[in-house]
Amino acid sequence: MLKQNILDKLNQQINLEHYSSNLYFAMSSWCQAQGLNGAARFLAAHSAEELQHMHKLFGYVNKTGAQAIVSEIAAPDNTFKDIKDVFERTYKHEQFITTQINELVSLTMEEKDYASFNFLQWYVAEQHEEEDLFKGILDKMDIIGLDGRGLFMVDREIGAMGAKH
Ligand code: FEO
Repeated sequence: MLKQNILDKLNQQINLEHYSSNLYFAMSSWCQAQGLNGAARFLAAHSAEELQHMHKLFGYVNKTGAQAIVSEIAAPDNTFKDIKDVFERTYKHEQFITTQINELVSLTMEEKDYASFNFLQWYVAEQHEEEDLFKGILDKMDIIGLDGRGLFMVDREIGAMGAKH
C-alpha cells in the first residue's frame, strides 16, 4: 500500500507526464506550421513517448491498490520564437522533470518505500537519456548553424532521429 504523500507525488508526476506530452504535441504543431516537418515528426513521436511514461506510472499506482488520478492538465504554450527556442525549452523542461523525479525518489527513500524506489529507477535512467537527447539537438544546431541551408539540414537531422521506443 502506498503512503499518501507518495501517492500524491506519483499522481502529480502522472499529471506532469501528460503535460509533457501536450507540450511536445503543441511544439510539433508549431513546427509543422513553419514547414519544419522533421522536427514536427520527432516531437509528435516524443509526445507519444510521454504518454507511455504517464501510462507506466498509472499502471504502477493502480497495481498497488491505490487510485491513479486524472486531473486538469495546464495548457502549454503554442507559440515559439524559432526552432532553437523550441528545443531550448524542451531541454529546460526535461531538466525540470528530472528535478521532480529526483524529489520523488528521495521521498521513497525517506519513507522506506523500496518498491516505489525500485520502480522509479527506470525514470531516473530515462531522464538521463532525455536530457542527453535534447542537449544533443541543441549542440547540432550550434554546429550546423541555422542560417540559409542550416535550418533545412537541422530539421532533416532531427527528423531522422525518430523515437527511441
Ligand atoms: Fe517523461 Fe521526457 O520525460
